[in-house]
Amino acid sequence: MLTQQQLKQQAADAALDYIEPFLGPQTVIGVGTGSTADLFIDGLSRYKTRLLGTVASSERSAARLARHGLPVLDLNEVRSMPVYVDGADEIDTGLHMIKGGGGALTREKIVASVAERFVCIADESKLVRRLGAFPLPVEVIGMAREAVSRRLAELGGRAALRTGFVTDNGNVILDVAGLRIDDPKRLEATINNIPGVVTCGLFALSGATLALLATQSGVRRLPGS
Ligand code: A5P
Repeated sequence: MLTQQQLKQQAADAALDYIEPFLGPQTVIGVGTGSTADLFIDGLSRYKTRLLGTVASSERSAARLARHGLPVLDLNEVRSMPVYVDGADEIDTGLHMIKGGGGALTREKIVASVAERFVCIADESKLVRRLGAFPLPVEVIGMAREAVSRRLAELGGRAALRTGFVTDNGNVILDVAGLRIDDPKRLEATINNIPGVVTCGLFALSGATLALLATQSGVRRLPGS
């Protein structure tokens, strides 16, 4: 029986195999945030002479990449990336995701938007029939915290301030429980449209291209539509 840590390692290794054909002197790889992304970063160090650099979705990942001697580029210097690799808190079979458990959702969404492909790496426990058991992280500008919480309540959500946490962008996170997510794309657009919301952790309007989900019997590949 493989542990969750071993499953995460398998998913990270599968992503390292996946990106290998894209490597070259001009290649920039987008790198996510979280415990599974950390394993991907550790493995990526073996390719450090075979790529131009990386773009990190958080200060935490940037520091880990730098510790491995992997160049970390400013996104403003990068026009395109073949692949962005990141974990998820939940993913459905349509490859819509909830992300932001680590609080890096906004930069994750930005970096992913510049990449041609989003490869989601996770253990199979992250695969759900319907998104929403995991409270939805929403990054909010501090002065709008209460106003946004009231609007989220109108949508059926119970927003809790993530205490003692400030995002890399200087904002707060509301973790929103109780949302009924029947239409992830629509809900993503609705929440993102509330004044004061920087972005919500639904990645549905632009989901993953491919999920590499580690199971007890190997890595399952779920292609996007
Ligand atoms: C970080 O903000 C999140 O979006 C992560 O991708 C997510 O929390 C998955 O993290 P783990 O790989 O640690 O489960």
